Amino acid sequence: MLENQRKYWNGVADEKEFTTPFQIDVFSKYLPKNARILDFGCGYGRTLFSLYNEGYQNTVGIDISEKMIARGKSIHPYLNLHHLITEKIPFKEESFDAVIALALFTCIPFKKQQKITMSEIWRVLKPGGYLYMNDFLITPNIYNRERYLKFEKKYQHYGIFELPDGGIFRHHSQEEIFDLVKDFQLIIADTSTFKTMNGHLTNGIFYFGRKNSILPTF
Ligand SMILES: C[S@@+](CC[C@H](N)C(=O)[O-])C[C@H]1O[C@@H](n2cnc3c(N)ncnc32)[C@H](O)[C@@H]1O
Repeated sequence: MLENQRKYWNGVADEKEFTTPFQIDVFSKYLPKNARILDFGCGYGRTLFSLYNEGYQNTVGIDISEKMIARGKSIHPYLNLHHLITEKIPFKEESFDAVIALALFTCIPFKKQQKITMSEIWRVLKPGGYLYMNDFLITPNIYNRERYLKFEKKYQHYGIFELPDGGIFRHHSQEEIFDLVKDFQLIIADTSTFKTMNGHLTNGIFYFGRKNSILPTF
């Protein structure tokens, strides 16, 4: 699965523009400028670039697509961006004050891999560290309903669909998102409408939480 995802994202690395909102005002209220921050699925580094402009320099971005990382390095050579080879985050446990995951889980359509990814995020976060994520929600308009129904049988799930260019994506129910983050302490959750990388308006969720409990349930 990871290899298919890598192949897809390498193929579109030069053409996609990411637009889900990052609320830097909320983030900077909780995280000091010297915080160590990981952007998981960083793409071409747009979020770390915003943080850099705000004075955050202890940041790292990782992404499975080496082409996406190459694009990021060419636009922002001062950012610390790395190609992720396996699902394991190449950093020690409890080494980050915050992990950012913007529109990441939509690209990881299946539950098993989502759980592995979330357990890695949990592992590298310090106790008391923050998770800032956003993602796409099920959107009950005709355009989306048609594609959810088209792929429901193939994937045994309503909300997983393929794009014409070959990517497999998932729009989540709110319950699925809250299940994913159930070990974190909720600070803020808010829903709104996001623009997708293909220019469509889709329901979205912003989640900000804290690693407070001792034993995760992954
Ligand atoms: C929709 S883009 C969002 C990029 C970035 N977070 C942003 O909002 O600007 C998703 C990114 O996640 C990366 N990705 C997809 N599956 C991944 C995985 N299993 N592990 C790490 N990165 C992944 C893709 O290569 C792509 O760059």
